[in-house]
Amino acid sequence: MKISPFNKEKILEITEKYGTPFYIYDEKAMRENVRNLLSSFSWCEFKEYFAVKATPTPYILNILKEEGCGLDCSSMAELILAEKCNVSGESIMFSSNNTPLEEYKKAMNMGAIINLDDITHIDFLKKNLYIPSTMCLRYNPGHFAVWNNIIGEPGDAKFGFTKKQLFEGYKILKDAGVKKFGLHTMIVSNELDGRCFIEVARMMFELVVEIYKELSLEIDFVNLGGGLGIAYRPEEKSLDLKDISEHVKDLYELLIIKGNIKPFKLFTEFGRFITGPYGYLVSKVIHKKEIYKNYIGLDATMADLMRPAVYGAYHHITVIGKEHKPALYKYDITGSLCENNDKFAIDRLLPHIDTGDIIVIHDTGAHGHAMGFNYNGKLRSPELMLKEDGSVRLIRRRETLDDYFATVNISEQ
Ligand SMILES: Cc1ncc(COP(=O)(O)O)c(C=O)c1O
Repeated sequence: MKISPFNKEKILEITEKYGTPFYIYDEKAMRENVRNLLSSFSWCEFKEYFAVKATPTPYILNILKEEGCGLDCSSMAELILAEKCNVSGESIMFSSNNTPLEEYKKAMNMGAIINLDDITHIDFLKKNLYIPSTMCLRYNPGHFAVWNNIIGEPGDAKFGFTKKQLFEGYKILKDAGVKKFGLHTMIVSNELDGRCFIEVARMMFELVVEIYKELSLEIDFVNLGGGLGIAYRPEEKSLDLKDISEHVKDLYELLIIKGNIKPFKLFTEFGRFITGPYGYLVSKVIHKKEIYKNYIGLDATMADLMRPAVYGAYHHITVIGKEHKPALYKYDITGSLCENNDKFAIDRLLPHIDTGDIIVIHDTGAHGHAMGFNYNGKLRSPELMLKEDGSVRLIRRRETLDDYFATVNISEQ
């Protein structure tokens, strides 16, 4: 059973003050999770670059910075967000693709590590800017045994360098005077099988050895990307970080240390794993509708959380105050968009729901609010933080109609 860090009394107090719907995050749990990640990989020089796209909220980025994380940015806005959180230099990994020139310019001005997605971008940088002294290349292994449905078979994914391009790219960069080299990949997303992560580490470590043997080039850091999954369903088992880390350590010792390869730093850029389980979308039941099926109408919509509609993703749902009642009623839990896929759950068994009930949608701390949109003129929800002392702080206000109309000139016909 999934539990929330707040009881009925607390949630009613919060809804009274802030209205619904809203996102709320659990600061204590988030901090503990990051500490656990860092201690699991303390056997090596490890750094987590939090994937800003998962939860681009300054208060959260500051918490993660305090805990020792860097930031993985992929756009101008994410770079500026990092800047506003006083994160710069090699604490930023700029992992973008099809990157506009201005974004490279900004990232390089900030001293970020540039993680190149394509070989043609070496010439693009040479022609328009310069080649920084630290460069990372994103590898796409093409046909590879490890992949999952979200990103798809690596050979069909738009990201990264082929193996041949990778070797050629390092050669060109070495000749251009690059001093520090990184190797990056990301081929799975929301993966709950720890063996995938271990196999990706094996592939990367073997590649480091091959690059050294073929090019006499030493890799300074390996970035294993994001993609660790979280247990969205109550019956799913969370990943065992310590076990994954132990296996990766064994591979590191076998292939790198015993192989007399220069030790390198290990980086990750997890998003979902860092914040996903510690965010909740809280919404009120505003209508019930009974036709061929039974519908529960919330004041949140897929504009607040599009994962169920777009990916068919499961998010656990609880009804505040009814957590222990039997789940005997089958409902579609819907929003109010004029789209039939505007549903948080289909045929979900839940306790009897009444208008006015407060619904909690779990595991929305990553790729949740961030993926929100304004279709049907829906306004983005606020974000709240449940702080360690039990107080609640508004960390992003609710969007207003003025915000919505701010980009159009209504008087001009
Ligand atoms: C380049 C890159 N790094 C990291 C992430 C974070 O992935 P996750 O939240 O699944 O860990 C993403 C997600 O799309 C990504 O595209």
